[in-house]
Amino acid sequence: MRILSGVQPSGKLHIGNYFGMMKPSIELQDQGDAFIFIANYHAMTSVKDATALKSMTLDVALDLLACGIDPDKAALYRQSDVPEVHELAWMLSVLTPMGLLERCHSFKDKMAKGITASHGLFAYPILMAADILSVHANVVPVGRDQKQHVEVTRDIAIRFNKTYGDVFIIPDASIKNDVSVIPGIDGQKMSKSYDNTIEIFSSGKKLKKRIMKIVTDSKGLEESKNPNDCNIFKLYKLFTDNQKQDFLAERYHSGGMGYGHAKTELYETIEDYFQSMRKKREELEKNLDYVESVLISGAEKASILAQDVLDRARKAVGIL
Ligand code: ADP
Ligand code: TRP
Repeated sequence: MRILSGVQPSGKLHIGNYFGMMKPSIELQDQGDAFIFIANYHAMTSVKDATALKSMTLDVALDLLACGIDPDKAALYRQSDVPEVHELAWMLSVLTPMGLLERCHSFKDKMAKGITASHGLFAYPILMAADILSVHANVVPVGRDQKQHVEVTRDIAIRFNKTYGDVFIIPDASIKNDVSVIPGIDGQKMSKSYDNTIEIFSSGKKLKKRIMKIVTDSKGLEESKNPNDCNIFKLYKLFTDNQKQDFLAERYHSGGMGYGHAKTELYETIEDYFQSMRKKREELEKNLDYVESVLISGAEKASILAQDVLDRARKAVGIL
């Protein structure tokens, strides 16, 4: 099994990223060849400041390593260190119908939010397809919001193989059913683009303040409440076992517990959950040469595969 996933360095990583992509990737790295990359070319669709892009790229590397990506098991690299993906992306783009991209929810959602569409944002799923196909990945752990992009990848790869002969492996998305789409503090999908995130490495007062902003209904302290409709409880479930969930759910139902109490419970749970990762991140911050060496050796591994795939694709299309 070959696993590949990526995350954009377009802001501080949040618990939607953690449960949607990072934790599943970390679990899968024990089960096959894993390739995890920092999608810095993708992030250019939203980040237009060079210093910010550079520092967020390093931040994401630190986050991934602190959370448990193990360089002995997974190749961790920057997308920009494997430039073969751009040539592949062009070869894929000439086979991609406009309609396929026009149907992508992620693009439509961004347009609906008033984000100005560039050609890069529109063509984004093609670069993503190239990322996946460049290492012959067959399993792609992502959050539910990215499922359609993996389906687009499959569609393009099948078209390519039909047109030119078998070059690409057809990948499958791997999505944790129990995770689905993680809500942000406003109840919509948690996303760096929507300013509604809870950051993985936030802590103390800052974290508490953020959690206190989670939107709830206006039921009073004494009233019985429905945990399953509540954003606080949806987040709490991610971090806790059934026993703890049942205990809090019971307090929702019985009344006498305000949302403030539930928020405090969630705050303490999150603070505790990421504590050891926070420590590890602080250590890594003091050892940036090590982090750089991990990224370089990850890119070397990915490049060997990408060069081979690109060679085969070039031959297949008639480019020498
Ligand atoms: P963002 O929307 O914050 O920019 P990305 O698009 O960079 O996040 O997503 C990186 C990975 O994290 C993807 O696999 C994506 O599916 C996952 N992810 C992001 N937000 C969520 C969420 N709210 N729920 C589940 N998974 C998510
Ligand atoms: N599009 C993904 C996201 O926004 C990031 C990404 C880029 C990716 N290329 C990928 C994820 C390839 C998985 C596989 O979350």
